[in-house]
This record gives sequence, structure tokens and C-alpha cells, in this order.
Amino acid sequence: MSGPISKSDQTFLRHFSMLIAGLVLLALALIGLAMFIYSRHTISQDAALETNADAAASARIAPVGAVYAGDTGRAAMQAAKEAAAKAAAAQVAYGGTTDGKSIYDNLCHTCHTAGVAGAPKLGDKAMWSARIAQGIDTLIKHATEGYKGPDGNFMPPKGGNPALTDEQVANTVKWMVSQVK
Ligand code: HEC
Repeated sequence: MSGPISKSDQTFLRHFSMLIAGLVLLALALIGLAMFIYSRHTISQDAALETNADAAASARIAPVGAVYAGDTGRAAMQAAKEAAAKAAAAQVAYGGTTDGKSIYDNLCHTCHTAGVAGAPKLGDKAMWSARIAQGIDTLIKHATEGYKGPDGNFMPPKGGNPALTDEQVANTVKWMVSQVK
């Protein structure tokens, strides 16, 4: 023994401190790696959350009818109205005919010829006389606006075709009434 620390102890200490240093380096490397992964992960997730939140928030706070706001909006609304009117005019049913019979043949006959769903049959006096007694104006009104009879049967407005004009409906009702003999 030549001193307070023996030779074998010195060797042990040297190896042991090298081991400790290695472990410290490894720990630092792992910490660095973990920080790197964590930072990338949270950044991408936050970014995604933010875009979603932005989109959701703008959707929530978007003013209703924003399209029609201000002067440009008024112009757009006017244009839309005109376009709708034009479309409606172009869609006048059955070529715009005011011939009651041809409108009947195109539409009303589906219910009124066979008496489907409680519809009064065309030309059937027993089924029509009480209705005709209401007066032609009431019949036309019922055919135009729709009508639910006392038995719960339903005459759809304009026979289910809103493209019919009031005049077309009126003429058709008159023609139907003229068929009751
Ligand atoms: C989907 C079936 C259906 C179609 C299509 C239909 N109707 Fe009717 N209509 C009925 C029914 C059902 C009644 C009877 C309602 C009641 O009084 O119970 C009725 C009743 C009527 C009446 C009598 C209303 C009253 O006050 O008694 C008139 C008029 C009439 N329809 C006209 C028409 C004309 C015109 C058309 C075509 C443009 C038409 N209907 C197309 C089902 C239809």
C-alpha cells in the first residue's frame, strides 16, 4: 500500500467516472431528443387547432345574409329577384296555356278522373253538386290555395304545381265545373 488510494481503487474510480460521464451524456441526449419531438408535436397540433378554431369562429360570427349587406347587396338582391321572376315566367306551366281541359289532362286528372284520395270525380254530379253550390269563386279559391275537406281529404294548392298561374287554375276549375251535367 503506497498512499491513501490503492492502484486498483484508482483504476476502479477511473472506469467508474467514465461510466458516469457516459450515462450523463446519454441522459442529456435523451432529454434533447425528447424536447425536439415534443416541440415539433405541439407546434403542428397547435397550428391545426388554430386553423380549425379560426374557421369555426368566423362561421359562428358571420352575419346572417351578409351577401345582401350594403349597396352591392341591394344590387345583388335586385338581380336575384329579377332572375327569379324570369325563371318563374319561363316556367309557366304547360306552355302558359289557359285552356282548362289541357291543364286538367296534364295535372288534375291524376286525382280527379279516378277520384283518388277522395277527390271529386270529373263529371260526377253527386260528388260535385254540393261543391258547386259553394259558388265558383270558392271553388277557385280552394283549388288555388289548397283545401282540406271535412273528411280530411286534401286538395293540394294548384294541384301541386306552383308554376300554374291563378288564371290557369281558375280556367281549369271552370272547365271541370262545366263537365258536370
Ligand atoms: C293529389 C290529388 C289531386 C290533384 C292533382 C288535384 N286535386 Fe283537386 N282535389 C283533390 C281532393 C282530394 C279534393 C277533395 C278535398 C275535399 O273536399 O275533401 C279536391 C277538390 C277539388 C275541388 C273542389 C274544392 C271544394 O271546395 O270542394 C276543386 C275545384 C279541385 N279539386 C280542382 C283541382 C284542379 C283545378 C286541379 C288541377 C290543377 C286539381 N284539383 C288537382 C285532390 C287533387
